Amino acid sequence: MFSFFRKKEKKILDEVREEEPTDYSDATKIAEYFKNETGVTFDKQMNILNNKAMTFCKQREISSFSKLLDLLDSDAVIKQELIDYLTTNETFFYREFKQIEELVGLVKKDVSLVKIMCAPSSTGEEPYSIAIALLEAGVSADKFRILGIDINSDALNKAQKAVYKQRNVRNLSDEIIQRYFYKQDDKFILRDSIKSLVDFKLINIFDASFATLGKFDYIFSRNMFIYFDAQTKVRAKKILQDMRKNQDQKIFFGHADEL
Ligand SMILES: C[S@@+](CC[C@H](N)C(=O)[O-])C[C@H]1O[C@@H](n2cnc3c(N)ncnc32)[C@H](O)[C@@H]1O
Repeated sequence: MFSFFRKKEKKILDEVREEEPTDYSDATKIAEYFKNETGVTFDKQMNILNNKAMTFCKQREISSFSKLLDLLDSDAVIKQELIDYLTTNETFFYREFKQIEELVGLVKKDVSLVKIMCAPSSTGEEPYSIAIALLEAGVSADKFRILGIDINSDALNKAQKAVYKQRNVRNLSDEIIQRYFYKQDDKFILRDSIKSLVDFKLINIFDASFATLGKFDYIFSRNMFIYFDAQTKVRAKKILQDMRKNQDQKIFFGHADEL
């Protein structure tokens, strides 16, 4: 009797396995796909990618990496979800502030309207920091516009909401926090007067449409190149350089970006 049930159970399990064989053993092709699409490399972190891609698939009942690859070609929603899941968005207000101070000094000398781009902006702390620092230095709000772009839609939704935690504002003085945020429980909510100075756009710097954003007086591109390999850094640098109004103007890269 026992063996009859065991046999039946085994047969059912075998049938299920035949229908949906799972295979999460090798994420090499996912890594290639992701690098081609976003520039972000997992070459030195294949174990991390393997685990993350497996979790991503299991959460969506996708039975194998090859099925995921098929879906990525046909399903824009899954593609965006994978991008949101695999990109790293760590950022905070007044990060590497010396560069922001340098920018403020330059903008103060400019006479006409100044266009600034943060590529990437992640959850908004960098472009908002620039806006705050410019106002603090006495630059009038109608003298500059800031555009933040990023490939991660979750990050941009957070940027547009502009609701932050203590760790995001840890570099800001109490005076600045009081002037530009209001507090609700443990949250720091940016005031509309600052939010209105920054626009956000979901875009990949490697997409042809990136060039249609126009030309900018100043470009910040900090802590994105750290996720690119050497070849991709060269490609990305050229794309950003072509977005400058003035070809002599340097681009502000992060200290960890190693060009
Ligand atoms: C660590 S954050 C840097 C944010 C901010 N610039 C800073 O330094 O604090 C890196 C951001 O780069 C974005 N990113 C990666 N590849 C991108 C691409 N090809 N196009 C646009 N954004 C990209 C990620 O989504 C992520 O939000």
